[in-house]
Amino acid sequence: MTATPARLAVFASGGGSNLQAIIDHLQTLGEHSPAVLALVLSDRVSAAALGRARAAEVPAVWVAKDRGHELGGILERHAITHIALAGYLRLVPTAVTSAFRGRIVNVHPALLPAFGGPGMYGHRVHEAVLARGARVSGPTVHFVDAHFDEGPIIAQWPVPVLETDSAASLAARVLIAEHALFPRCIEALCAGRIALGADGRVRGADALASPHLPAIPL
Ligand code: GRF
Repeated sequence: MTATPARLAVFASGGGSNLQAIIDHLQTLGEHSPAVLALVLSDRVSAAALGRARAAEVPAVWVAKDRGHELGGILERHAITHIALAGYLRLVPTAVTSAFRGRIVNVHPALLPAFGGPGMYGHRVHEAVLARGARVSGPTVHFVDAHFDEGPIIAQWPVPVLETDSAASLAARVLIAEHALFPRCIEALCAGRIALGADGRVRGADALASPHLPAIPL
């Protein structure tokens, strides 16, 4: 018996390179994909992510920042089962994070819980990492709750911080890891291989540990 694929919505405010990585990954999986990308939503009418969605023939909607209360209805109309935030700068309304508990994930370009929270997005994150002298950064994929960057962590991949780094060069190196990690996490979530327990702990994510870390000792 083939399981019904999840219906994924991606929320994005900017360029949408993570969205593109998701589109490409699901396409590579083909008929084995546990998810179909059913909606791309942006709070910015000019977001390049909307153009990427249209190019991939995925429904693309702009929801202005003062229309956040309409999100629930839009998700329902598109029969969305899972949400991925890929550079979405707005706080998702609590009604949505509660309804999608364990089925809504975000990617952040630093190792949470450091260098996250309100206002920590874009180059500010990488500037803060450099200012603090951290030697390791990298993407964090986590479940989304009512607060910025606070939900239970699913996976983190380390990326070295180099002495010669600028915020731009570090961002570019972290982004490469994001593009590899985030689609894998979404695939695992939609396939039911990872889950958020009632106790707030993530199950099934050991398989998403970084290939650059030593194997977990048994
Ligand atoms: C990424 O660095 C992501 O971690 C953060 O916002 C950025 C979005 O980039 N949440 P893009 O729009 O996917 O290119």
